[in-house]
Amino acid sequence: MKYLLPVIILPFFTLVSSQDTGLGQVRAAFANANIPEDLSITFNPSTLLEVSLPQASGSPITLHAGVQLPRDSTAGPPSFSLVGTTSRGPFVIAAVDPDAPTPQTPTASQIRHFLGGNFFKTGLGNAILNTTAAVSGFLQPTPPAGSPAHRYVFLVFNQPPGFDTQTIVTPSTSISLFNISSFAEQVGLGAPIGGTFMLVAPNA
Ligand SMILES: *[C@@H]1O[C@H](CO)[C@@H](O)[C@H](O)[C@H]1NC(C)=O
Ligand SMILES: *[C@@H]1O[C@H](CO)[C@@H](O)[C@H](O)[C@H]1NC(C)=O
Repeated sequence: MKYLLPVIILPFFTLVSSQDTGLGQVRAAFANANIPEDLSITFNPSTLLEVSLPQASGSPITLHAGVQLPRDSTAGPPSFSLVGTTSRGPFVIAAVDPDAPTPQTPTASQIRHFLGGNFFKTGLGNAILNTTAAVSGFLQPTPPAGSPAHRYVFLVFNQPPGFDTQTIVTPSTSISLFNISSFAEQVGLGAPIGGTFMLVAPNA
């Protein structure tokens, strides 16, 4: 009887607290969803990336790794926080869809849904704010009708010197057939220091 209480409370608590609470939990969710392999990245997060999506009514939704959201809740633009790092930045954030047009046949992947640099911690809190326009502005998930849910993966990197002058990806570069691993190698981003992801299915 004495073990029953935690068992009952824990799942409830998981439902109530929406954001990611531990690095191990995020790493496991990424591994279970096969993301490191599909993106060709090493994922050993040292900080929690909180991604919050504003809602037409009510408070913003903060992702926890692997949450499925109705497409209508994902219009964005997202705001970001970093929990558990002493660095104040700058940071680069990228969001990609490895499942386009479908997870079974991802011939257009990755789709770049966001790429921006110069995110800094500015105040006492964990929010990181960008001081320059994004390279690729946020694009709402649009999985095609008939497709299963896609994974939309957000990654944060330490920003290397010279990032602002890179020309490998510009606002006019096609958003499809992106490769975050190869981009990271080319501009010296290294491995991501944090991340999270959501699942979004087509509108019925
Ligand atoms: C900052 O990032 C947001 C996405 O969170 C984006 O919509 C915006 O264009 C970026 N640039 C500036 C200057 O805020
Ligand atoms: C992406 O680039 C990495 C090299 O960084 C490569 O190993 C991988 O095969 C590429 N992925 C695709 C889908 O081309």
